[in-house]
Amino acid sequence: MEDNKDRIQEQRRECLCKLTKFVGAAGVATAAWPLISALGPDEKTVGESAPLDVSLAGVAAGQTIRRIWQGKLILIHHRTPEEIAAARRADGSALIAPQADSERVSAQYPQWLIVQGYCPHAGCVPNARPGGQGWICPCHGSEFDTSGRVTRGPATANLAIPDHAFHPDGLSVRIGAKEA
Ligand code: FES
Repeated sequence: MEDNKDRIQEQRRECLCKLTKFVGAAGVATAAWPLISALGPDEKTVGESAPLDVSLAGVAAGQTIRRIWQGKLILIHHRTPEEIAAARRADGSALIAPQADSERVSAQYPQWLIVQGYCPHAGCVPNARPGGQGWICPCHGSEFDTSGRVTRGPATANLAIPDHAFHPDGLSVRIGAKEA
């Protein structure tokens, strides 16, 4: 009789012990989940880092459209034939940050200038100059030509070009993708 009582008590202890371990493990997992999920990228981040497709249909020559990609302002400017000619005429090697226009725009679609919308001096957003004369920074007066190359400081670098690739029909561009 006494043996049986001991055995029952022993079984109860074992059962209680297993239950305690289970509850403990579940508690740790529950407590750790916010930390684990915080370490991975959230949906918003994944969405922001994905390439951005931009339709170019309807963007007239001389017009600039603005888009946000990865939290950054992107300026997409439709250059006129005069703006393209001016960019090609300029001696790229004589500029503050020497670079040929052909290194900054697509050979197939040279009418599109796509740059990050931040002055390399201190990050202000440059404005398009009237009459297709390039860009000017409202903060300290840096100027950029129709290729986004700096022609007057204090900026010492050209407007940055984000990776982009044109759809074969030329009617849209994918920001954040590399040309094949
Ligand atoms: S931020 Fe553009 S010139 Fe200073």
